[in-house]
Parts: sequence; structure tokens; C-alpha cells
Amino acid sequence: MSSTRHQPAPTHPDGPGPSGRHVDTVSITQLQPADHAAFLALLDLADEEGVPEEVEDLLTLPPLGQPFTHGPALCLTAHTPRTASPVGAVFATLSDWAFQQPMNPILAYLITTTILYTNALAVAPDHRHKGIARTLLTEVETRARDTGYRLATLHHAPELTDFYASLGYTSARQVLAVFPSGVRAMPPSSYLTAVKPLDPDVRVHTVPGAPAPVVTGLLPDCDLPAHMS
Ligand SMILES: CC(C)(COP(=O)(O)OP(=O)(O)OC[C@H]1O[C@@H](n2cnc3c(N)ncnc32)[C@H](O)[C@@H]1OP(=O)(O)O)[C@@H](O)C(=O)NCCC(=O)NCCS
Repeated sequence: MSSTRHQPAPTHPDGPGPSGRHVDTVSITQLQPADHAAFLALLDLADEEGVPEEVEDLLTLPPLGQPFTHGPALCLTAHTPRTASPVGAVFATLSDWAFQQPMNPILAYLITTTILYTNALAVAPDHRHKGIARTLLTEVETRARDTGYRLATLHHAPELTDFYASLGYTSARQVLAVFPSGVRAMPPSSYLTAVKPLDPDVRVHTVPGAPAPVVTGLLPDCDLPAHMS
């Protein structure tokens, strides 16, 4: 897979985009060594507590196969023609959530290979509201879908619910998922959890009486249990 993808939209460098907003052509690139510091500085914008040291360590690793670029992480940057440094960054990786559940480790491994978690997404303040975050996240989803991932997840602040809904995410305080071992709650967070199916067999159900949306179809035969149907 090419490490750089030029986005067809926005299509008018330096001119107004379809919504009338001022836009630049943006290219999405796999993180390059020269941009490590700028990448980490951008990710800092997305996390009040700063980027964990482990993230920096991952940047030295060779990719663990597609869709990853650095160890088990997918690190992409957004560039515009007029800036030397990246103006946007996204960091996505595996979720270790299944391994924290009381379930067979082989099952936990299989679940881990179905879900891609976007840990951090950020755009430089001067370049916001031009569709750059949308473009970065869409690229993460495309690469995840192309390599067999079935669900995209992330956590976000409540004020971004409409933004993520416009990209196809369902957000809630808690999200449940059906597995052969039963219905499990996805990782808890002080933020909202958002989920988006990447495969037509995966669905997010709003079940009357259930405490949260329910994800089905991540693994074969993981349908809604009878008491929820
Ligand atoms: C959130 C963020 C990544 C959006 O980047 P962006 O490139 O401006 O996003 P896009 O242009 O693709 O989409 C913009 C839309 O996001 C939504 N949005 C962005 N910031 C928002 C906020 N603070 N409150 C409500 N909606 C917001 C709006 O719907 C906005 O639409 P508009 O431009 O018509 O107003 C950027 O504001 C940022 O880096 N914030 C700090 C880090 C952060 O909060 N990251 C998200 C962690 S989950």
C-alpha cells in the first residue's frame, strides 16, 4: 500500500471548498522520522495528560504488518503544500481490552484482530475546520477495512458527538458487544465511547431496555441474544 494518499477533496487549493470554507489540498502520509517531534506535539493537543512515553517508544519499531506503520500502531500525518511540518496527526492501534476480560486468550486474540482503536486525533489550531480531521480518520478507517478490521472505535468528549455522528459513529457512555463468551461491556472511559462498523456483517443495535448500544457480528454467530431480540 502506498504510504501517501492525496485526497481528492478538498479540490481547490487556497480557494473556498464545497461548503464555502477556505481549504488547502491535504495529503495524508505515513509518519516519517523527520516529523516525530511534530507528530508527538500534535497528539499532545488531544490528551490533557500528554502523550504517554510508550507512544514515543513505538515510533522506533518496524510495522507489525498492515495496516500498521510503527509496531502495532498506525501513525498518519496530514500535510498541506504551504507547511513544512504536519498540520494534523492520528494515532490508532490495537485495543488490549479483550485480554482484560475473563475469556479464553485465543478468543481475546481473535477479538483484538477485529477492532481498531483510534487513540488520538488532532489538528493544529490554525488549520482546523477545513476537513483535515475528517480526512485523517477516513484514511484510518479505509486502511483498517482493507486489512480485515471490522469495527472502528474511539473515545471522545461529548461536544464532538455530532462530528463523529456525521462520520457514521454511534456514541454512548457505555457500549456492549456480543461475543461467544457472552455480552461484554467495551472499555470504560470518562469520555464517550464511539463505534463504527467497517464490515456489513457488523451492526450497532439500539435495544429497548438494554443499558447501551449493542455491537453484533464481530465474530461468527455473535448475534443478539434471545432476551434482547
Ligand atoms: C477535534 C479536531 C481534531 C477537529 O479537527 P478539524 O480538522 O477542525 O475537524 P474537521 O474540519 O474535519 O471537522 C470540523 C468539525 O468538527 C466539529 N468540531 C471540532 N471541534 C469542535 C468543538 N470543540 N466542539 C464541537 N464541535 C467541534 C464541528 O462539527 C466541526 O465542523 P465545522 O468546521 O463545520 O464547525 C480539532 O479541533 C482538534 O485537534 N482538537 C483538539 C484535540 C481533540 O480534541 N481531539 C479529538 C480527540 S477525540
